[in-house]
Amino acid sequence: MRTPFLAGNWKMHKTVSESAEFAQELVRTLSSSRNKLMVAPAFLSLPAVAAVLQGSKILLGAQNMAPEVEGAHTGEVSVRMLKDVGVNVVILGHSERRHSYLESDALVNRKVRLALDHDLEAILCVGETIEEREQGQVEDVVGTQLREGLAGVDPGQLDRVTIAYEPVWAIGTGKTATPQDADAVHAYIRTVLGSMYSTDAAQRLIVQYGGSVKPTNVKELMAMENIDGALVGGASLEIESFAPIALFDA
Ligand code: PGA
Repeated sequence: MRTPFLAGNWKMHKTVSESAEFAQELVRTLSSSRNKLMVAPAFLSLPAVAAVLQGSKILLGAQNMAPEVEGAHTGEVSVRMLKDVGVNVVILGHSERRHSYLESDALVNRKVRLALDHDLEAILCVGETIEEREQGQVEDVVGTQLREGLAGVDPGQLDRVTIAYEPVWAIGTGKTATPQDADAVHAYIRTVLGSMYSTDAAQRLIVQYGGSVKPTNVKELMAMENIDGALVGGASLEIESFAPIALFDA
């Protein structure tokens, strides 16, 4: 039985005080949820949100992380800094990082291994562009992102990995993959993980869907056999839209 994992990625929204205030609202509203929950504010807001979330059931996520432990890396934030402020989970390989900041699978892999080696959980994001989908390359693209993103990750570390399947064309566009199309890719993700690790490990793996998830479509997505949660952008920014998603109950 896989516990649903609903996560909000606030991206570059909300100031520190807005983030702390919103986190308070989430703690009040979501305390009855039986799902695994996470929010990922901007780096600057992490300490303030950590203080609010302490003792609640909402995990603290970061949106990115440096691939090195420390050193002369202007503008970067390290794994130790994240851990020190109470981060539990880090989102890695988000398509906005891959496309706007040219993060390669090799770079994402360094971050994934570093996060896991420091006992953080990692959400590894994968997904194809519209051109890749139209050219029939979904499995090639997603398979490569998985194999290269998880290279060197030990079987014993896999229980701290979540995969987020986020078709790039569905992010922030209002377009969602049909539940059937998404489920087919989620099943493929399990097949790839099965070949890299074991069928058992692949069955235990949590695979989130991301891309224009809303209160109106979360139920039909979550009803699919291989969809275990959601990574939510836009709809995670307001209580009216995030609460019904986070409180989802099969
Ligand atoms: P969206 O973003 O829900 O706004 O489409 C999803 C994501 O980027 O994780």
